[in-house]
Amino acid sequence: MLDPGWFAGRAAIVSGSASGIGRGIARALRELGSRVVALDRNPTDEPGLAAALIADVRSSKAVDAAVRDAAARVGRFAMVVNCAGVALARSAWETTEAEWDEVLDTNLKGTWLVTRAAWPHLEEDASIVNVSSNAGLVGFPELAAYCAAKGGLVQLTRAMALDSTSRRVRVNCICPGHIRTPMGDSFIAAQPDPAAFARQHAAAHPIGRLGTVEDIVQAALYLLSPASAFVTGSVLVADGGYTAR
Ligand SMILES: NC(=O)c1ccc[n+]([C@@H]2O[C@H](COP(=O)([O-])OP(=O)(O)OC[C@H]3O[C@@H](n4cnc5c(N)ncnc54)[C@H](O)[C@@H]3O)[C@@H](O)[C@H]2O)c1
Repeated sequence: MLDPGWFAGRAAIVSGSASGIGRGIARALRELGSRVVALDRNPTDEPGLAAALIADVRSSKAVDAAVRDAAARVGRFAMVVNCAGVALARSAWETTEAEWDEVLDTNLKGTWLVTRAAWPHLEEDASIVNVSSNAGLVGFPELAAYCAAKGGLVQLTRAMALDSTSRRVRVNCICPGHIRTPMGDSFIAAQPDPAAFARQHAAAHPIGRLGTVEDIVQAALYLLSPASAFVTGSVLVADGGYTAR
């Protein structure tokens, strides 16, 4: 059973924590008593964090320095959450090389860089959660680089899980459906008829609504805690049934 007391005093590093899902996870962990280091390219005004570090996850130099700094402040990490991400609504044929690099480097390479930097500073039994997407499981039109990055992240999760067993570190990923965050909302706002799109898109999720940050926070807490002690290399699909069709 998930024991909320387990989180108290344990250290976590959460990338992408200045907004949306990452911010929600950082807040939930902080409310449960964890010492949370936020890492984002943007500043956060979230109160009560152990540290808020500015770093671009695409840069190994920036990530290595930030994670070293974080470890110096909080010691060993029990939890790593890779949430930093960018989306790009563009077909495969219209995507420029610079756009491709930004999407792949943020969502995929950034996850690897943060986790690799954190590896020497992890507790035994640490848990790593990568935030992929249902776009990592099925294709979506006009989302080519994002689908490629998130699909790669599912496979990176499995590979990292196998590379982590020597220290009993677990690595899992979550594949959310459409979540109401600044990223999710700007995707809707960019549609020709945002209100109609939001209705149709909600109906495409068999549960009948779009997801909330809290939906993904609960999935992350499960994967981070020992409630999921026998779970590694897994893909937790939290998409309201979108990919079940
Ligand atoms: N919102 C959705 O519908 C949805 C669905 C599936 C998956 N996801 C994934 O969930 C994660 C969080 O998305 P969100 O909806 O909360 O988006 P968001 O835009 O609200 O938050 C993303 C955060 O990542 C940070 N970030 C972006 N690029 C960065 C970089 N290079 N270095 C450091 N930080 C960087 C941003 O500053 C921001 O704080 C992303 O990986 C996203 O792909 C979102």
